Amino acid sequence: GDEDDLAARPPVVTVMGHVDHGKTKLLDAIRKTNIVAREAGGITQHIGAYQVSAEHEGEERKITFIDTPGHEAFTAMRARGAKSTDIAVLVVAADDGVKPQTVEALNHAQAADVPVVVAVNKIDKEGADPNKVRAQLTEYGLVAEEYGGSTLFVDISAKNGTGIDDLLEAILLTADAELDLRANPTMDAQGIAIEAHLDKGRGPVATVLVQRGTLRVGDSIVCGEAFGRVRALLDDNGEPVEEATPSRPVLVMGLTAVPSAGDNFIVVTDDRMARQIAQQRAARKRSADMAKSSR
Ligand code: GTP
Ligand code: MG
Ligand code: NA
Repeated sequence: GDEDDLAARPPVVTVMGHVDHGKTKLLDAIRKTNIVAREAGGITQHIGAYQVSAEHEGEERKITFIDTPGHEAFTAMRARGAKSTDIAVLVVAADDGVKPQTVEALNHAQAADVPVVVAVNKIDKEGADPNKVRAQLTEYGLVAEEYGGSTLFVDISAKNGTGIDDLLEAILLTADAELDLRANPTMDAQGIAIEAHLDKGRGPVATVLVQRGTLRVGDSIVCGEAFGRVRALLDDNGEPVEEATPSRPVLVMGLTAVPSAGDNFIVVTDDRMARQIAQQRAARKRSADMAKSSR
């Protein structure tokens, strides 16, 4: 495909911030789900991806959200999240203020040159001080529009659902003003694995984000050193879909092994080609590992 085949695609938005500042609760509020309640210890341990629809200037618009863990142990996941995103939403609890992983997440977003929208959360709580969060973040180069800067800050309560529509609006305004979000949907799909694991019943499963092209059931794919034929695609509600277009996250079934989170995937002409590429990659990795260990 060439430039002529470029079509608008939804923004990919990574939700980042300090542990327990309300990233998953925010996504629950947007999606009207209750994932927080199902997490062990209330701590997110994996990256999750969801697509939602929002009304913007009379138009139905899609936004893809990537939820990241805020626990300090998961630095690599935050760094990866910031790299594969268009916009970062930095969640800061208004009763707790800027904390170490708030700063770390912001550093990842700034290093990746990704525009940041700040969601000042938990404004329902006693002791919430949203203006203090604004003042704190000016020290890190994020100056709110109302203070003469260019960063959009939105006060929200993920618990009560306050400010959610304003936040979606701020995200779409940022996307339209600062980004040219287009991709070719007609080519063979390419993208990135966001999370992968071995499922007891389904075998290896990978949540992938399609970045270009359209991924279809029946496609032969290589993902890192894993390969296979796409047996089924499930959307973020677990419903089967036939295909996934750019910016769409889907669960892929049919891989012969579990890829690593962060691995790129590509669709190739057939299973043989997929196996060959995967085996070449594995062999290259083995010799690199051997070179490393003999040093
Ligand atoms: P990690 O993924 O583990 O970093 O946490 P998180 O940022 O996803 O936070 P999570 O959504 O798990 O919320 C942490 C706690 O704060 C939960 O008990 C939520 O119910 C609570 N919480 C989140 N948002 C709000 C809010 O707007 N107001 C109040 N009062 N509580 C909230
Ligand atoms: Mg979470
Ligand atoms: Na949490």
